[in-house]
Amino acid sequence: MSELQHFPPSFTWGVATSAFQIEGGATADGKGPSIWDTFTHTPGKIIDGGTGDVACDHYHRYAEDVALMASLHVDAYRFSIAWSRVQPQGKGAWNEAGFAFYDRLLGELEARNIEAHVTLYHWDLPQGLQDEGGWLNRDTAKHFAVYAAEVARRFGNRVKTIATHNEPWCSANLGYGNAQFAPGVADLKQSIQVSHHLLLSHGLAMQAMRAVGSSARLGIVLNQWTADPATDSQADRDLAAFEYSRSVEWFMDPIFKGRYPELALKAHGANAPVVHDNDFKDIQQPIDFLGCNYYFRAFCSAETPPRQPQPPLGFTDMGWEIYPQGLTELLLKLNAAYELPPILITENGMANADQLVGGRVPDAKRIEYVEHHLAALKKAMDAGVKVEGYFLWSLLDNFEWNSGYAKRFGIVHVDYETQVRTPKDSALWYRDFIDAQRAR
Ligand code: FCB
Repeated sequence: MSELQHFPPSFTWGVATSAFQIEGGATADGKGPSIWDTFTHTPGKIIDGGTGDVACDHYHRYAEDVALMASLHVDAYRFSIAWSRVQPQGKGAWNEAGFAFYDRLLGELEARNIEAHVTLYHWDLPQGLQDEGGWLNRDTAKHFAVYAAEVARRFGNRVKTIATHNEPWCSANLGYGNAQFAPGVADLKQSIQVSHHLLLSHGLAMQAMRAVGSSARLGIVLNQWTADPATDSQADRDLAAFEYSRSVEWFMDPIFKGRYPELALKAHGANAPVVHDNDFKDIQQPIDFLGCNYYFRAFCSAETPPRQPQPPLGFTDMGWEIYPQGLTELLLKLNAAYELPPILITENGMANADQLVGGRVPDAKRIEYVEHHLAALKKAMDAGVKVEGYFLWSLLDNFEWNSGYAKRFGIVHVDYETQVRTPKDSALWYRDFIDAQRAR
């Protein structure tokens, strides 16, 4: 694959990270603990025993990291704010020293002419709120709206976009459905109720931020996939339809249509969420952009053991199928089903078993992955889907949740002993690709 895709000149090229995965500074300057601090310090939860205590030490090395971004010629940086850094308990007092960190980070980005794209919630709920029931407690949605408005008030005119949530599917299904993520609960009914409170919190936060008024475009980031039946059997087709309904439509329909999708709602039966009278009115707020994170499709097999896909491009180091055409299919499908605002691809990238050899990281596989996904993205755009930017996940190797530091997603290699950053071949490729786009 080598043919250069020509994107519109206004297209935004970025990189993405999240607070818990890179910042470290877990207790610095008054930061309160989050559910991920608690989870990572609970033995047995993280594959390699990793924590977020130091991570990439970005809390202290942010200036170096912004310089690194500038050296890669990116237009934009997507990062998240650690709620418990700026409001240690998740309600009540603000922590000025925490806000000061993000103020310094924004200052560096401004100095380098890099757009800031902020996510308010990338899974790190303040532990203080977890102690009061976390996302199972409806009040958490109200606290979230207060936090959102405060960020919009302070930073709304300095950032391009503010996303309420990153991948609420994960917060609900991995945090409360199968216990892989913090807070580590495995209870289907709870996970579905949590998904409703996350959606409600999105809607309340949108309204609270709108009331503040700022130049930032406001939206949400969802992880999405197409769901393909493994075979033509009725069982596989039913499974695929349910998977798409419970995962993609479950979050899209309330926001765009003010209701849950019938198929999943029926299937959830007694596990369906408790919904109050005005909830859908609150949730169905117009959004200025939709962030779409795409990594793989769902390959749905009802057989035991389930059939596996046989992808020509293979699997990533996470074991995720590499399926670029799923991105085209997904975007076309969404575009046909909803009145979409402009889309940002807020995450796409791969874990690779990278090796640092003689000062270089030859990650040809990652370059191939990105090239194929950009081609798939371009195809959807040519077919009429309005996409305005692409953010590679991730700038840095970082803490990959329950996989700890064992999986490397960065286009920049991080030596966790020394904190030395080394751009991988993919980073240099991305820089040259961005230059080539601009040179046209
Ligand atoms: C997404 C998350 C991000 C990162 C990538 C690999 O689900 O948003 O933090 O872990 O997967």
